[in-house]
Amino acid sequence: MCGIVGYTGREEAVPVLLQGLYKLEYRGYDSAGVAVVQSGGLKVVKTKGRIKNLDEKIQQEGGMESVCGIGHTRWATHGAPSDVNAHPHISRNGRIALVHNGIIENYLELREMLTQEGFEMQSQTDTETVAHLFERNFKGDMMQALTATVKDVRGSYALGIVSADEPGVLYCTKRDNPLIIGVGEGENMIASDIPAIIQKTKRYIVLNDDEIARVTPESVELYNALGQKIAPEIQTVNWDISSAEKGGYEHFMIKEIMEQPKAVRDTVSPRLENDLPRLEDSSLTESLFQNLRAIHIVACGSALHAGLVGREVIERFARVPVFASVASEFRYRNPVIGEGDLCIVISQSGETADTLAAMREAKNRGARTIAIVNVVSSSAAREADSVLYTWAGPEIAVATTKAYSAQLAALYLIAVKAGLARGTLAEKEAREYCRQVNQLPELIQQALRARPQIQYLASLYSNRQSVFFIGRGVDYAAAQEASLKLKEISYIHSEAYAAGELKHGTISLIEDGALVVALATDPALYEKTLSNIKSVKARGASVILVTERQMEADPEICDFVVQVPACDPALSASLSIVPMQLFSYYMGVYRGCDIDKPRNLAKSVTVE
Ligand code: G6P
Repeated sequence: MCGIVGYTGREEAVPVLLQGLYKLEYRGYDSAGVAVVQSGGLKVVKTKGRIKNLDEKIQQEGGMESVCGIGHTRWATHGAPSDVNAHPHISRNGRIALVHNGIIENYLELREMLTQEGFEMQSQTDTETVAHLFERNFKGDMMQALTATVKDVRGSYALGIVSADEPGVLYCTKRDNPLIIGVGEGENMIASDIPAIIQKTKRYIVLNDDEIARVTPESVELYNALGQKIAPEIQTVNWDISSAEKGGYEHFMIKEIMEQPKAVRDTVSPRLENDLPRLEDSSLTESLFQNLRAIHIVACGSALHAGLVGREVIERFARVPVFASVASEFRYRNPVIGEGDLCIVISQSGETADTLAAMREAKNRGARTIAIVNVVSSSAAREADSVLYTWAGPEIAVATTKAYSAQLAALYLIAVKAGLARGTLAEKEAREYCRQVNQLPELIQQALRARPQIQYLASLYSNRQSVFFIGRGVDYAAAQEASLKLKEISYIHSEAYAAGELKHGTISLIEDGALVVALATDPALYEKTLSNIKSVKARGASVILVTERQMEADPEICDFVVQVPACDPALSASLSIVPMQLFSYYMGVYRGCDIDKPRNLAKSVTVE
């Protein structure tokens, strides 16, 4: 987490840096700062709070004039959010300013060594040690000092650096955290992510681990870990700045919920040919799925919830054991995975530290890896054996919606491909299913029509303390995502249970006024779920039933029915999740929550 930006060019740097930081706020938003090279020295302004607080503080301090600088928006790991812990951090002699995204694991050792040598720490951060270490290693050459400094640190980092002695030059490097260089005309930028540079340029270079760049307004010099100069590969962003704007919506979250038909269409339609999946472009050939021992899906948060749906659907079509694991647990449990296994990692950002580490673990043990990723050229995309991009476009709201839906669509295609390759799914059945996958955008559009009804339900229930979600099979998987969404956005305590499991303990929490949202979209499981619903209704719960059935609310079963379009049960999560996302959104709105930037969260979690 944390967002880094840097600018060098002919324009005033601070407005460009601030605009970039606003775009990176999704990465962390507890404190922020900028440093510019000004009148032979450095000027630094930093503050606890959001970018707008930083903006105000800069105005109060009479502005900052410079054509070169760096900025940072923080998600605290070491040291509480405060002015002093905010980045940039400055070396003891005040000549070097540095911003950092990541964690310096050996910072305590470094801190002790530096303190003994007379460096005084101002903050509690791990980052400040790097600023002092840089000064310690500096022998008149920035490249040499940076190379020496990264050798001394252990951990993960993306670093942006300016020196008072080299106005107009940015230095940067990275390991296990993203960093790109925006390539403009007479101006260049560095940043954690594309939205921060797109105001200036669509051309960018992705920095690889351990590469170092020296960036001036006219040039980008790139060096590998051995200090050899290498030729940069320039890529072009394939989306427009308007995709990262609210476009008239009040929040990014509702905009992105409404964009789901397009996200799913863009992910699916280029990959269907004669109603069958064509994934060879992603190097997902049939042979990949034949003779498989097992599939391991590994991810975090909502991406894991997409994986839980994937597990149901892949097992159904491909008849191979599928395990879905939390990435942070998978890597440390000595997983039984190796040659003959396939590991599917799912990640919107492609930068989630736990997911990347789990993927590397699987790879080291001999498994083949597939990454389902939204961000082009992200670490997961570059490291996996095969990549299946979700074409959801940039997702700005911290809580994911359209990327989750696109992940489901990608998993459906993999499930069919695997079923065909393994001979467990007849071509006729596969075509019929793919036709339905192709219709999903339209069905999601229909599901979105529930918006006014859901807004009304949220107005009724937004004062509840606790909400339970129940379902069976795919509905249970969708219920877990629905519950996470509600927690994230409205801060209401909520849990998801397999409907049949409720009676084994959790039902003790059901009393008058408890709200239960029951997902029951699979006709084969409806009767079973119905009896679970009745048992909570009989104990005084208010029940919202989400189903494809055409029915009226029946006082013995539920208070409200939310109807979703009918489809193959193996696709139903794509439709049942839509009213649930809207429900979380409106619950958060009625409770006055910060919808796009929920407290304590960050969109891209690059720490373990
Ligand atoms: C964070 C976000 C979640 C997201 C998870 C995984 O915790 O707040 O919304 O699902 O990371 O992110 P990824 O980028 O790997 O999908």
